[in-house]
Amino acid sequence: MIETAQAFGVDIGGSGIKAAPVNLEKGEFAEPRLKILTPEVSTPQAVAAIVRQQLEHFDVPADVPVGIAFPAPIKPGQKLDFMANLDQSWIGVDVTEVFSEACGRPVVVVNDADAAGLAEQQYGAAKGQDGLVIATTLGTGIGTALIYNGVLIPNTELGHIELAKGKGDAEKYASSGVREREELSYKKWAKRLTKYYGLMEKYFSPELFVVGGGVSRQSAKFLPHIDIKTPIVPAKLRNEAGIVGAAYYASTKQ
Ligand code: BGC
Repeated sequence: MIETAQAFGVDIGGSGIKAAPVNLEKGEFAEPRLKILTPEVSTPQAVAAIVRQQLEHFDVPADVPVGIAFPAPIKPGQKLDFMANLDQSWIGVDVTEVFSEACGRPVVVVNDADAAGLAEQQYGAAKGQDGLVIATTLGTGIGTALIYNGVLIPNTELGHIELAKGKGDAEKYASSGVREREELSYKKWAKRLTKYYGLMEKYFSPELFVVGGGVSRQSAKFLPHIDIKTPIVPAKLRNEAGIVGAAYYASTKQ
């Protein structure tokens, strides 16, 4: 692994598993990331084998902290009890144990949106922001991270709130995956996002929303059409936030 990296981050998503060595002073990749498609049947064994492959590809030394951003609420020492977008066989599994065994070293696991929120708070759009920040990731699902005065309140699952009675989870209506599947224009999608962020604004009165996920690259096309009172800005680390945040988190735990 390249010398400028002090930690290694992996971001597990519904469509891709991305990893890179991270320069923690700068909060950026020390080498270009490697993306491997998420296996169609995304069982613990299949996903863990890819994470191992990522570590081997970058030749990550045994003493380098490894952080893994994972798309479910993570309570250390407890088995997973909820999984939305990967194979249901993850339920009942100790995620940290599975990855540590596959990688032959202890690794640290953190919710993917929490990882992204931490990275934005440490290096990006939420840096120095007081009060409540809600960082969101728009991807296959909707992930959320609550950060109050710089401190993360972990494992919020606000992509699963109901926008209206009987309508199901918000992420089934307003995620980036839904926009692609239903071929919505950015303007039409922004109407749905207005409903989502409007509800979050009503319940939480945050100082700032940060919008991340791969689609944040296109933020100029939809953010101006989200009609709410709270400032809403694109993630500065874009889609890199999950990897950088996971690496940063792992370094704080070592
Ligand atoms: C999961 C969250 C995750 C989000 C983004 C949701 O379906 O329940 O834990 O952060 O997707 O991946």
